[in-house]
Amino acid sequence: MAETRSLEGKTLLVTGGAGFIGSNFIHYLLKNYPRTKVINLDKLTYAGNLDNLKDIEKDPRYEFIHGDIRDRKLVQEVFKRVQGVVHFAAETHVDRSILDAGEFILTDVFGTFVLLDTLKSAPQVEFFLHISTDEVYGSREKGYFKEDASLSPSSPYAASKAGADRLAYAYFVTYNLPIIILRPSNNFGPFQYPEKFIPLFVTNALEAKPLPLYGKGTNVRDWLYVEDNCRAIDIVIQKGKLGEVYNIGANNEVANITIAEKIVSLLEKPRSLFHFVPDRLGHDKRYALDCRKIHALGWKPEREFEEALALTVRWYQENPEWWKKIKERSLEFKTFYEEYYRNRK
Ligand code: NAD
Ligand code: DAU
Repeated sequence: MAETRSLEGKTLLVTGGAGFIGSNFIHYLLKNYPRTKVINLDKLTYAGNLDNLKDIEKDPRYEFIHGDIRDRKLVQEVFKRVQGVVHFAAETHVDRSILDAGEFILTDVFGTFVLLDTLKSAPQVEFFLHISTDEVYGSREKGYFKEDASLSPSSPYAASKAGADRLAYAYFVTYNLPIIILRPSNNFGPFQYPEKFIPLFVTNALEAKPLPLYGKGTNVRDWLYVEDNCRAIDIVIQKGKLGEVYNIGANNEVANITIAEKIVSLLEKPRSLFHFVPDRLGHDKRYALDCRKIHALGWKPEREFEEALALTVRWYQENPEWWKKIKERSLEFKTFYEEYYRNRK
């Protein structure tokens, strides 16, 4: 039986709220729940960006705490003030994890451990949503992963997320804590750091720079518009069953090269910008989720892919100051296929 919880009037802790999905989720919450308060705990790594939250920074319902989820004392203090937690904070870029996995283990696994362990002594917290990923299942050529499929992560990022995912489950089973695990597919939309595929390709195309397609460009992802993901998180908070895992996907499988073609076409740029580069190491071919479990809670994606991609492309076109500032910080902004070239020579 599905449970029912309410978000209205609660104070929520969002970890990693200055990142891509976290900042979209904070916007979503403040827009849809006028009496809900949000505390955003974020370390502001290279991927954290307070520009994502400029329009709401003075909203009395919003509070930012600059801090690390591994800081147990700080986390204990913040947990006392909230009734719900949505945990996004993580190192998230697969290519970076291939170059150096250390921070992924420390943040994604150990950081999640600190939060879960703190939850043991915060009995007023009614729910803890752990944001995992579809990458924990690994790749498959055909068929779809259900939530009870075995995990076979293939990048250091995915393996660290799988560790955190199962740790969250272990804390549910062992300590009977109010934990739910979500496994979303590839998100896209506004405020996504431009090292990720779609914003990298859109912003490079706008600058007439090469679009680096890994391998033959035939790898497939299930693309989910970030606003639909936020609605899914909301519905799971309200109706999800404690201890359960929910896949979130759009059943929208698209090959990378097809997306690249759509992007250049939307921007009226030439296909000659395509640049086939050496493949990502251990590159997963395809991710695909069976999402019947979350459909049964009453969620399905609302935005059609073509429309959502056009909206996303337009957002980057209309907000060059947002992404140019990031790309100009050249010491922080690495182009990973160039690193591969260097490392492989
Ligand atoms: P992101 O990289 O854009 O943002 C991550 C945020 O976490 C940043 O603001 C960063 O400063 C913060 N952070 C990192 N380490 C921290 C620490 N130790 N303490 C506090 N804050 C810290 O990430 P995203 O793409 O928005 O992903 C959010 C979550 O969703 C992650 O857990 C990711 O694994 C998961 N996820 C992402 C996608 C996707 O397509 N982007 C899909 C499925 C799941
Ligand atoms: O599936 C969910 C995951 O999606 C999340 O858990 C991760 O945090 C998120 O980064 C994302 O991982 P991917 O590796 O799928 O996303 P990325 O944007 O890095 O790459 C998408 C596809 O595009 C992948 O097949 C690799 C390819 N690619 C990527 C980049 C950055 C290129 O061909 N060229 C590129 O320059």
